[in-house]
Amino acid sequence: MAGELERDLVLPCGAVITNRIGKSAMTEGLADKLDRATVRHQRLYRRWSEGGAGLLVTGNVMIDRRYLERPGNVVLEDREGFEQLRAWARAGTVGGNHLWMQINHPGRQATRMSALQPLAPSPVQLDILGLFGKPRAMQEADIEDVIRRFAFTAKCARETGFTGVQIHAAHGYLLSQFLSPSINRREDAWGGPLENRARLLLAVVAAVREAVGRDFPVAVKLNSADFQKGGFTLEECTQVASWLGDAGLDLLEISGGTYEQLALLGHHGEESSYEPPKRESTRRREAYFLDYATAIREASTVPLMVTGGFRSRALMEQAIARNELDMIGIARPMCVDVDLPQRLLDADIDAAPSYEENLPLKGRWFGPTSPLQGVQFLNVQGEVAWFYRQLLKLADGLEPDRRLGILSALGRHLATESKTAWARRARRA
Ligand SMILES: Cc1cc2nc3c(=O)[nH]c(=O)nc-3n(C[C@H](O)[C@H](O)[C@H](O)COP(=O)(O)O)c2cc1C
Repeated sequence: MAGELERDLVLPCGAVITNRIGKSAMTEGLADKLDRATVRHQRLYRRWSEGGAGLLVTGNVMIDRRYLERPGNVVLEDREGFEQLRAWARAGTVGGNHLWMQINHPGRQATRMSALQPLAPSPVQLDILGLFGKPRAMQEADIEDVIRRFAFTAKCARETGFTGVQIHAAHGYLLSQFLSPSINRREDAWGGPLENRARLLLAVVAAVREAVGRDFPVAVKLNSADFQKGGFTLEECTQVASWLGDAGLDLLEISGGTYEQLALLGHHGEESSYEPPKRESTRRREAYFLDYATAIREASTVPLMVTGGFRSRALMEQAIARNELDMIGIARPMCVDVDLPQRLLDADIDAAPSYEENLPLKGRWFGPTSPLQGVQFLNVQGEVAWFYRQLLKLADGLEPDRRLGILSALGRHLATESKTAWARRARRA
């Protein structure tokens, strides 16, 4: 089985990824006041590119400046900032890897810091600590505009040297909201039965393909399920995966969860409708979406990447050898161990180092399984903040701070976020 991770992957568009390890998207928050990429993106991605992964996916780049996932997002909605994007793409490909731009619209998950009134398929508000405004239901013209914007951003990504694009349709952002029956309550052609709820995603994929051409990788990140009552289910995901295969998609990355149910990081709160498999094996506990991937694999021929929890080389090798998936997605460990892919490929280490001791909130104190959604959210934010701070260190050319405490990370992160939001607001005013 040795060497499975080192095999090339030939995508339907003809592009070749030289190994099976992909760094998944992680929002960087490093843009300048004009939402452009900076030298910090270059430093960070150069380090990752030298780290051996066959594929790097950027943090989500926004298609519309009015609606951000967080302050510090890069925005690509016109021809501003091309020079900076080119420099980012050059730095992120020095190692000969692929560098794909993840493109996104947050929909109702745009915080009040960027949009007092976000857009959504229906006016169903995200109710977490008052952070999100009541959304406006999108009209036909808004939907057409979103499709056009995804296509434009993808075309510009190609023009500026990125070697592929990934459309973000997971984690409760706009395209994922359209897929969810509990958030999308429309009664027109964009809501109701699955084929209507999936219409926007499929229209975006078609428009992006048209914009970038047949020989350029187009990927989608999709939830295996939302893990919420009345949300997008695994059965629906397998059907969408099959349609995406028919649409000529190059890679489907499987994740899961939303801001309300943070399954993407492995926190399926006890209050969730998610039921872990009865005989949960060690491998399932590690790579928590692997079971779901098996069902999707059966339904679709589209090449699969699975992300969430993969840490041990043996499990990665085994999943590839058994043809359960095509690419292993890794995110959090890459914030601390930038050369992890190469060390896994060289069989230098058996598993990604774990920093659990730095994340004492996990499963203790009020814990991620608190029935109070706001507490759960803050708790997971603490963990995520720890990784954000490591990203900043790398982007500033420093070494990660493995001893950083979680509360200190959260405090510093919140301070940086508000500063970035205010600076952006002042500059745009
Ligand atoms: C700091 C941080 C930022 C993230 N940003 C994004 C993002 O911009 N887009 C996305 O699709 N997923 C994002 N994710 C989710 C990861 O891509 C990945 O799905 C998740 O961390 C699980 O993989 P892991 O167990 O290897 O970390 C983010 C995760 C973290 C920790």
